[in-house]
Amino acid sequence: MNTRHQIDTALFNCAFQSLPPLFCEQTPACGLILGSGWSDALDPEEVLARLSYSEIPGLGAGSVIGHSGELLLCTISGCRIVAFCGRRHWYEGAGWTPVALPVELLRRLGCQNLLITNAAGGINPTFTPGAVMAIRDHLNFTGLSPLIGPVIPGWGTRFPDQTTLYSQHLRHHLATAANSINLHLNEGVYVYAAGPTFETPAEIRAYAALGADAVGMSTVPEAMIANAAGLAVAAISCITNMAAGVSASALTHNEVIEEMERVKPRLSALIKTFINQL
Ligand code: HPA
Repeated sequence: MNTRHQIDTALFNCAFQSLPPLFCEQTPACGLILGSGWSDALDPEEVLARLSYSEIPGLGAGSVIGHSGELLLCTISGCRIVAFCGRRHWYEGAGWTPVALPVELLRRLGCQNLLITNAAGGINPTFTPGAVMAIRDHLNFTGLSPLIGPVIPGWGTRFPDQTTLYSQHLRHHLATAANSINLHLNEGVYVYAAGPTFETPAEIRAYAALGADAVGMSTVPEAMIANAAGLAVAAISCITNMAAGVSASALTHNEVIEEMERVKPRLSALIKTFINQL
């Protein structure tokens, strides 16, 4: 087996030891893993500690524009939050260790709630750019899984159940939070494509036929690990563009970043009010 498919647990230990002691003083109310453009939507009241990803063994600086690569210990709505601003992806070619590491660090910190965010392409024709979708379920179309390999201590059983991977009670909190700020929150199915190419129109038609509402290149691996490890998981997609062939225009990462910039204030308010509910 290609060793990149396996997780280097020795790096987990090194990464955990690299965290300043302040991180371990109190259990965070929630962990955040923020995808493309979402880091700018984070508006903490107080930053208690910050660390560049390059200072965390096994995580390393990412290569994707819009992913700032900083770990924050901060307060939002009066709650202690650990926020991974920017994520690593399988398509970057560094294997699963950097993708899995944020979840493992949150687990070791005793964190029980995880909010994962991403930018996604809209497949559901009722969506328009700027729409926000809570993930109700996913389709993993990559054939990849970060759970392939030896069972990792703390990550549950060999065959984790995924029937209610996206926590019903956190989804309820998201809906209540969105309601209180007059944000229309869609719920739907997210399809995970490995990337780094955007999809073809034929792929998008197939995903639509299978019930997908949005498509992206992330989130599912972290959600699978967190669920297996017993964390409650919520995930939100911000629709930055209509998926290939749904609209006639060509897709670019710049468009994704520009749309995220436009909807930032709404996303920021959603994160705050969601955390306030916990
Ligand atoms: N496809 C995959 N990932 C994405 C897209 C898309 O259309 N938009 C933002 N991330």
